[in-house]
Amino acid sequence: MDITYKLAPSILAADFAKLGEELGRLKDAGADYVHIDVMDGMFVPNISVGIPVIKSIRAYSDMFFDVHLMVQEPIRYIERFKEAGADGITIHYEACSDVDAALDEIVRVGARPAICISPDTPYESIIPYLDRVKMVLIMSVYPGYGGQKLIPETLTKAKNLREYITEHNLDVDIEMDGGIKLDNLKTVVDAGVNVIVAGTGVFAGDLKENVRKFKQIP
Ligand code: DX5
Ligand code: ZN
Repeated sequence: MDITYKLAPSILAADFAKLGEELGRLKDAGADYVHIDVMDGMFVPNISVGIPVIKSIRAYSDMFFDVHLMVQEPIRYIERFKEAGADGITIHYEACSDVDAALDEIVRVGARPAICISPDTPYESIIPYLDRVKMVLIMSVYPGYGGQKLIPETLTKAKNLREYITEHNLDVDIEMDGGIKLDNLKTVVDAGVNVIVAGTGVFAGDLKENVRKFKQIP
């Protein structure tokens, strides 16, 4: 199995007053993507950052902006997120009344399409979309908050999805988000995940050192 993976630190755990600087530090430390969690207070019971923040930080970073939309009917905002600087846009399967239309919209605006499933959604639900997305994001916690514990059952979901992708010769990344720390990183990678999101695990303490450790499987 391919054991190379990308690290996508979630800025939800960063000091928002210093976002520009933090992005510079992430790049110097060798992170691959910047994971940006957008919460609308409807699809999830929390509100985070949105279009103006992405626009502002775009000027401070040339890294890949991996934008995770925890937003009800995200199709309404996809174009504006792309204009603000999103490179990849991930929508939630559960948040769209028309998943096909939302994915079409991501492709139309020129972003990289990805689809996300919350812990209670089986991977079978998104099989019909696998030929149209570049990445599936498997939530390993209930979306809405950083700093939660990874739900072990979601690892089985990743394993099954990776098997399906391999069997069908598809070129789709699997990203996992929530509760990933150095002590469970190996289990996550072994489950077939090749894009690792980490918020508190990267931002708590020495960021540079944390990124370095996260880039090596323990
Ligand atoms: C949760 C977010 C995650 C979260 C990850 O809704 O999507 O990206 O910030 O944070 P940690 O790594 O602290 O669980
Ligand atoms: Zn996220």
